[in-house]
Amino acid sequence: MTPLSPRSARAARDVVVVGGGIVGLAVAWRAARRGLSVTVCERGGLPSYVAAAHVAAGMLAPVAEADAQERPLLRLGLDSAARWPAFAAELEEASGLSVGYRDCGTLVVARDRDEAEHVDREIRLREALGVPVARLLPSAARCVEPALAPTIRAAFHAPDDHAVDPRAVCEALLVACERVDVELRPGCEVRAVTGGGVTLASGEHVTAGRTVVAAGAWAARIAGLPGLCVRPVKGQVLRLAARAGEGPLLEHVVRWDGGYLVPRGDGRVVLGATMEDRGYDTNVTALGVYELLRDAGELVPGVLELDLECALAGLRPATPDNAPLLGEWEGVVLACGHHRNGVLLTPATADRIAALLAGEDPHIDPAFAPSRFTPVGAPR
Ligand code: GLY
Repeated sequence: MTPLSPRSARAARDVVVVGGGIVGLAVAWRAARRGLSVTVCERGGLPSYVAAAHVAAGMLAPVAEADAQERPLLRLGLDSAARWPAFAAELEEASGLSVGYRDCGTLVVARDRDEAEHVDREIRLREALGVPVARLLPSAARCVEPALAPTIRAAFHAPDDHAVDPRAVCEALLVACERVDVELRPGCEVRAVTGGGVTLASGEHVTAGRTVVAAGAWAARIAGLPGLCVRPVKGQVLRLAARAGEGPLLEHVVRWDGGYLVPRGDGRVVLGATMEDRGYDTNVTALGVYELLRDAGELVPGVLELDLECALAGLRPATPDNAPLLGEWEGVVLACGHHRNGVLLTPATADRIAALLAGEDPHIDPAFAPSRFTPVGAPR
């Protein structure tokens, strides 16, 4: 008897998710918990070492990163930040693994007069937006976070901006997905989306009722999605660690114009991140490392005493207005373009996209409709 080919052996799925990064896995987990059969196709490994979350520091900072021009994004960020504690607790229960959620707050600091004026404007902007921040004198900021340099000029505290360990979240999502029978397919590059599923680089067709594109910066490379306006923005980071026996350098996330330090709570710290338009290049450069250490060392001198574990670069999936693409577009469902906010926006994205897949109203703000760039029905 002729053996069944892989293609005919596989039953059609309710959903195929393209991309096994933090957003794709969270969408898959939430959709499977609603009873949908889900397959995740990931071009790299699982966990994915090419996904942005592998590099991301894990700031959950809608307030520290707020921009006056991006109010819908601020609302979505605040909504997602409010979902994080329950999302983390459910995920830890579902997987039995810690996700490193830390209720630590964020300090935004300035190193010179220009930056202090900028911090002043940032405080007034947040007050106008009605989000809680507390202005701190430099001496008070140093009481809160003694590792700060005596030379800092201004600071504010965003008490509700926290952090999580994105790698731990992805590990937990993989286990949680397996426990609700999500089919995980690492090493599975999607060449094209078609009506009714995806075609892999191997030529195999994965048949599914709905296709979710959560492929980060690689979404624009998939055939069948012409005009998808996602581009990679490179970010270099350093992973640093305190020596054994030494206490953690920082308790809070520390943010400044152009960078941040995110402590993990166990002595490890992530220092990020550059913003570079360099296509799909993920090389670490001497200049990137120099600038990160120069700025961080000026604000938190103890950083320069830490051990350097590694330097790496990832690709943020950016859109022209820095807001994500969420919802139906050209026969697929998009959950991509999260740019600097992928980790923060994971719970809000996963809950909305899972609701959409289950046939419910996902309550997605029109500001995130993919059709804002390519109106449905317009010639491409
Ligand atoms: N969310 C921080 C970054 O993208 O660098």
